[in-house]
Amino acid sequence: MLLSPSILSADFSALLQDVKKIEEGGADYIHVDVMDGHFVPNISFGAPVMKSLNGKTALPYDVHLMIEDPKKYIKDFVTDQTAFITVHQEAVKDELGEVIDLIRSYGIKAGVSIKPGTPTSVLEGYFDKVDLILIMSVEPGFGGQSFMEDQLTKAVELSALKKEMGYSYIIEIDGGISLDNIQRVKDAGVEMAVAGSAVYKAEDVPERVRAFKQY
Ligand code: DX5
Ligand code: ZN
Repeated sequence: MLLSPSILSADFSALLQDVKKIEEGGADYIHVDVMDGHFVPNISFGAPVMKSLNGKTALPYDVHLMIEDPKKYIKDFVTDQTAFITVHQEAVKDELGEVIDLIRSYGIKAGVSIKPGTPTSVLEGYFDKVDLILIMSVEPGFGGQSFMEDQLTKAVELSALKKEMGYSYIIEIDGGISLDNIQRVKDAGVEMAVAGSAVYKAEDVPERVRAFKQY
């Protein structure tokens, strides 16, 4: 499985060193959690912090925008290293198609995320347009919360739909992912996992990344 460790749980005072640790372990992406204190009840960091890593790590950015009116800020996250920019369906609603087009106009893959209370049916009409679907397995806003097992049914649904219809979106999951649930996550059809605290709380971070990459 692809692994996208979240730097939300990193030591911000030693961010580059912490990024080097996941790189050493073989992570596939850096998950960049951007929170505005409006869409979610917490503020994290913005584009300048992400961009401070430009050219200093080989890892591409997997940007997760937990912000209101993301259309206004997408351009700020466009870099040569940006692989994905994901917005929340709940933040864009009817503008989802427009936002996907905007992200793709920069040559970046477009993702859409749904909160635990949002059904996959809201994405009808977009399945053939998005590059990635991010299932939230916690209420977005904070790292270190418990995994919501029931969200795996969405992965099973999206995985079956993908096979049946030949869609190409990547199925990603975010929130409470650990070595205790990663096998079930994989079995449900998830292709890319985000892990914050389970990676950065480890004594040996590169080793923990390697352990995740066994799956
Ligand atoms: C939650 C964020 C997550 C979070 C994951 O709002 O989107 O990416 O950092 O952290 P853990 O893995 O600790 O749940
Ligand atoms: Zn995230």
